[in-house]
Amino acid sequence: MTETLQRPASALLPPLQLGPITVTTPVILAPMAGITNTAFRRLCREYGGGLYVNEMVTARALVERRPESLRIIKHEPDEVPRSVQLYSVDPVTTGHAVRMLVEEDRADHIDLNFGCPVPKVTRKGGGSALPWKIRLFEAIVSTAVREAAKANIPVTVKMRKGIDEDHLTYIEAGKVARDSGVAAVALHGRTARQHYSGQADWSAIATLRESLPDIPVLGNGDIWSAEDAVRMVEQTGVDGVVVGRGCQGRPWLFGDLQAAFDGREDRHRPDLPMVSATLLRHAEMLIPYFDGDERKAMQDIRKHVAWYFKGYPVGSALRTQLVTVETMAQLQDLLGQLDQSIGYPGEAVEGPRGRAGSPKKVHLPEDWLESQELNEDQREMIKAAEVDTSGG
Ligand SMILES: Cc1cc2nc3c(=O)[nH]c(=O)nc-3n(C[C@H](O)[C@H](O)[C@H](O)COP(=O)(O)O)c2cc1C
Repeated sequence: MTETLQRPASALLPPLQLGPITVTTPVILAPMAGITNTAFRRLCREYGGGLYVNEMVTARALVERRPESLRIIKHEPDEVPRSVQLYSVDPVTTGHAVRMLVEEDRADHIDLNFGCPVPKVTRKGGGSALPWKIRLFEAIVSTAVREAAKANIPVTVKMRKGIDEDHLTYIEAGKVARDSGVAAVALHGRTARQHYSGQADWSAIATLRESLPDIPVLGNGDIWSAEDAVRMVEQTGVDGVVVGRGCQGRPWLFGDLQAAFDGREDRHRPDLPMVSATLLRHAEMLIPYFDGDERKAMQDIRKHVAWYFKGYPVGSALRTQLVTVETMAQLQDLLGQLDQSIGYPGEAVEGPRGRAGSPKKVHLPEDWLESQELNEDQREMIKAAEVDTSGG
């Protein structure tokens, strides 16, 4: 399974090998709940090579075949490789979910989510709280790897630095994941406590790269431009980059990343008509994603409006109407009112976008930090805990 693109001699990095999958341009679209569905992934894929991960799906909900979970793991026929991110707190459910993906031929790559910092998740010991319980982490990862190996499907893990600066887990968890047979480890250079605040710690990414010389390490956090991605590669030595918020409202960032990774300097500088046409197409593609439910598609596109138009002089009245849009016809009408002569505004559209904020208390199960082993109560909780959730 190989992208058709050949890397030019000026390429920044060699292809990323994940088991049988060759990711020719080692750029990964970060899984983002509520964002990286088939519609958004298609827009991104059209601009460049890479690996495009879907939104996380809860293992339990998947095994129970909840319609929303089956929607989340959908891929378009031309989407290769099909990448699915699983969230799970328990090895048994992880095993069932991976087996289901394998037996029903629903994925070519599986990523495991150990980075989610939202209270609903960490309170149950999941996401970024989980690697602290290192034996539980090992059991989940090795179960996933074992089940996926039956179809030669590579498994990767995505994690944060740890719970907080006093409870860092990334080096130990990285080594355990490697020893369990993962194809690569991705690190978001923040702790759970940091949520999306401050700056991602790229030096931690460099440390992980040095600590795991034998498998690919992927760096994640605060890549807002192709230049940032190149800097991350140069500063940390990673084998690939994972890009999240930087592409919200800017799927063409993947074109810029492709160019930069090919050693070229051309970049997208979209004028307002291009942005507005992309938003419209995004909305159109959300309708089939929601099985023809136009209302749901419009609700979904609303959250993208501010990202698409960040830095463009779109009046506040029009913005307000766009974020309450109810029908495709109304959306077309509103976009038609934009001043089509507005060009690329420059710096105003660049830089950070999406979630930010300040550090937050990490909600954890009782006595979670007292030991890296599970106590009896925690073991019981984990068995029952597979929450129905979404978020990063
Ligand atoms: C809206 C949103 C949803 C997210 N959902 C997920 C998710 O489902 N799984 C996951 O591993 N990370 C999730 N994340 C985290 C991102 O994958 C990424 O690690 C994080 O945003 C840092 O990368 P960035 O600085 O490039 O955005 C989410 C982030 C955002 C902003």
